[in-house]
Amino acid sequence: PDPGWTTRADVVIVGSGIAGLTAALRLRGQVDKVLVVTKAVLNAGSTQWAQGGIAAALGPGDTPAEHEADTLVAGAGACDSAAVRALVTEGPEAVRELIALGTNFDHTDTGELSLTREGGHHRDRIAHAGGDATGAEIQRALIAAVEAAPDIEVIQHALAVDLLLGEDEAGVTGVAGLTLHVIGEGERDGVGAVHCRAVVLASGGLGQVFSQTTNPAVATGDGMALALRAGATLRDLEFVQFHPTVMYLGPGSRGQQPLISEAVRGEGAFLVDGLPEEGGSRLMPGVHPLADLAPRDVVAKAIMKRMLQTGRPHMWLDARHLGQAFWERRFPTILATARSHGVDPVTQLIPVAPACHYASGGVRTDLFGRTDVPGLYATGEVACSGVHGANRLASNSLLEGLVFSRRIADVLPAELPAWRTPGEDRRTPGLVAGDARREVQETMSAKVGVLRTAPGLAEATVLLDKLSGHDAETVDLRAWEATNLLTISAALADAAALREETRGSHWREDFGERDDEQWAGHFDVRMHDGVT
Ligand code: SIN
Repeated sequence: PDPGWTTRADVVIVGSGIAGLTAALRLRGQVDKVLVVTKAVLNAGSTQWAQGGIAAALGPGDTPAEHEADTLVAGAGACDSAAVRALVTEGPEAVRELIALGTNFDHTDTGELSLTREGGHHRDRIAHAGGDATGAEIQRALIAAVEAAPDIEVIQHALAVDLLLGEDEAGVTGVAGLTLHVIGEGERDGVGAVHCRAVVLASGGLGQVFSQTTNPAVATGDGMALALRAGATLRDLEFVQFHPTVMYLGPGSRGQQPLISEAVRGEGAFLVDGLPEEGGSRLMPGVHPLADLAPRDVVAKAIMKRMLQTGRPHMWLDARHLGQAFWERRFPTILATARSHGVDPVTQLIPVAPACHYASGGVRTDLFGRTDVPGLYATGEVACSGVHGANRLASNSLLEGLVFSRRIADVLPAELPAWRTPGEDRRTPGLVAGDARREVQETMSAKVGVLRTAPGLAEATVLLDKLSGHDAETVDLRAWEATNLLTISAALADAAALREETRGSHWREDFGERDDEQWAGHFDVRMHDGVT
């Protein structure tokens, strides 16, 4: 189909969280025109919701080597060691730059950067802002910097639909542009196209693949699906992290659920299977030397096991001893949210259960964000740079976006390809109806969630396959999102079925052990060869 309108930019950045806006700010001035496109408004993505903070070896006595060791342990043998090394060594400088940009992190009474601890870290190395509103403060500072840079153009309410690719006799030559579905941005409305020389995907994760997630409604795996359709490789999709302590709001509650930051456990809260004064017991002592601050997969599994033993839909977090004043100062957002749902953490236990939180896998990149498609780069949650392996270490995700977007901006200007003439508009036929979203989510939560089995995964594949026949009657945002969710869910279920072991966040009831002899490698997904 013909695009209704066209525009041009040297580099298009898809997404406006920490990864996208960092890339934009660092590329400006190095290439003629930078355009940021974002599906909703600038702060609608996951960065805004990050609570705990951003990890970097900034504290006295801490070193990148110790941060590296903790990251590798959490990643359960599936990290790329060079990528982890880049993350932890460049991390401190990248965070200092974020501070120089105007991000107001919390400080101690003596004026030092206030650092806390989260699961899997052996040091206090998590910088935070506004107590528990770190992402919102980072997002605010980045948006202010972008708004002060008139040479960065922004189009909001613009879903990136598909890449336009240049072609010659030998096949695809690389990125030539991008099709967008825009909802009412002046003259730009409906489907349009941007001709460009490079695209940086920074479009975030896929949390909405599941019924309950900490991710906002926009996290529908669009960038991963777009990259897959364009011929890029996805890696490690089966490693979806379930956050252990997401507030349980009842069986009917769907979509984005309130996160109770791991930093609450970092400050002394602990998990229990009932009120301690009525005989309830703590869950984590004896399970792992770090107890409630064990890596996230260990804590999520311990909670799920007790839920299955007791038949309860949740466990509880006891943080009453932190006291009113501490709660108000350190976790004002979580306190207000819990109270708005009828639970006062100062006097009551908080009901919690694991929910989908983070995609450790994504579009496979090298150390500079390059994908298999010339001119296509990826950074942040949409990417699989190799830093997270089978299980991301807490608070490494904001850092990944920051560090790898800087790396992309270090190389991209020098390797910016010539303008290519776009070949055929490959926008996929077979859009599924927006209503498929809910069925995809129910299938994924029931069969491909925290605990997986071969029969459940096989059923998921059949159910998802049936959904691909639900053709959309209208081409709209809901249909694109449902299609992207279905595409990614099918690939994720396949990868989860193939990995017959338990590693990091991938937990198989029927293959309960980690098996380094057979399964130390990765599963790569490509559009036409399936999962290999
Ligand atoms: C949290 O605050 O618990 C989330 C931190 C993270 O996901 O890295």
